[in-house]
Amino acid sequence: MGRSPATNPFTPGFGNLPRVFAGRKTEFADLELLVDRLAQGIYEQVRLVTGDRGVGKTTLLRELEEEQREAGRWVVRASATRGDAVIGRLCRGLATLLHERDVAAGLARGARDALRRLAGISLGPGGVTVELHEAGTSDRADELEELLAAVGGLARERGTVLLLLVDEAQNIGLDALGDLFHALQEVQGRVVATRDGRSGALRRDALPVGAVVAGLPGLVGRLKNAGSTFGERSKPLPLRGFGEGDMREGLRALAREGGATFDADALELLMAACGGYPYFLHLIGSQMWNAGDGAVITRADAAAGLAAARPLVTDFYEQRLRELGPLQRRYLHAAARLEDRARTTGAIAAALGRRSEQLGSTQQALTAQHGLLRPTGDGRLEFALPGLADHLRATADDA
Ligand SMILES: Nc1ncnc2c1ncn2[C@@H]1O[C@H](COP(=O)(O)OP(=O)(O)OP(=O)(O)O)[C@@H](O)[C@H]1O
Ligand SMILES: [Mg+2]
Repeated sequence: MGRSPATNPFTPGFGNLPRVFAGRKTEFADLELLVDRLAQGIYEQVRLVTGDRGVGKTTLLRELEEEQREAGRWVVRASATRGDAVIGRLCRGLATLLHERDVAAGLARGARDALRRLAGISLGPGGVTVELHEAGTSDRADELEELLAAVGGLARERGTVLLLLVDEAQNIGLDALGDLFHALQEVQGRVVATRDGRSGALRRDALPVGAVVAGLPGLVGRLKNAGSTFGERSKPLPLRGFGEGDMREGLRALAREGGATFDADALELLMAACGGYPYFLHLIGSQMWNAGDGAVITRADAAAGLAAARPLVTDFYEQRLRELGPLQRRYLHAAARLEDRARTTGAIAAALGRRSEQLGSTQQALTAQHGLLRPTGDGRLEFALPGLADHLRATADDA
């Protein structure tokens, strides 16, 4: 099949698995290492994947899930919404997994009770049943620990690893976040001591339970607020946009997948328009693909695609800006009017006729909650979304 909208390999959206997974080699290798080490009974820290919206957190988790499931690992992925719903979701995921792997009968009595109290779930020979009465427990962290330890023990007996993937973790309520991390920490601290048959040496194995938790950059601050030391104890995996090499390779691979190639000029145009941002790669790439039907995506196709993508990109910025309050919008407009090297909190405050201290929570919301600005590390702020500063400069500050 030739190049046509039907064969378009670009898939704009969120949380969808791309046809070709690009880049992320270092992060992915680290996650594979985590699982390999757990499989040998060696303790591994929880990984905290943080990054702005659309940077590829969910994609990374899903790619890992798919690979590890194929390798026979026990993977449970749950996405968090506000409050504590994620704990029930994890429990349902665990119950379904035990049923699918046909090991439910081996689950200890105490863990079964925990499952019922945590999520109103019973596990019988017929499968997973959600009971009608309300779930309720006075000590969620302990119950969760018991359940995870029991499932981890079963995984160990069967020579596999239990891997928990928690997405959108910035949404989890503080209590639930504290309980979840406490339980994980306790389970990971448990050891199984065995004596080597030959040498008689004592070996301590960790339970093969690993976790990868993903969320917006503000997640680390939330963990601190939950009174948990987990932010400090886990290993950070911050995700940024793609570097040039990964972007170029990813774009070429995607085009090949659809049966076409980019000429050099078209590729450079697309690279410049995306600024390394994975979501734009698909949004703009898709339009460039649809701008022609030749086996080579030309400079003219790229220019036409870019023009077609512009309203979509503008729409995307506008959607993000609509989430903001008037003062937050004014703050962003003021930040955009400053040059990159002069964009400090002090300069932004001065432009708004205020003192920096008065705007602390506004800046905090724009960095941690909305992920639109980020600290550069040397006292300045930069825009997290490529092109947003230009968009702000081009539109009036009507807030
Ligand atoms: N490694 C990758 N290779 C190819 N495409 C990718 C990659 N990572 C992300 N994408 C694409 O970018 C888009 C955004 O990715 P994703 O939904 O994973 O971001 P996210 O960080 O989870 O965002 P959010 O915070 O909004 O949930 C998706 O269309 C996805 O397919
Ligand atoms: Mg996501």
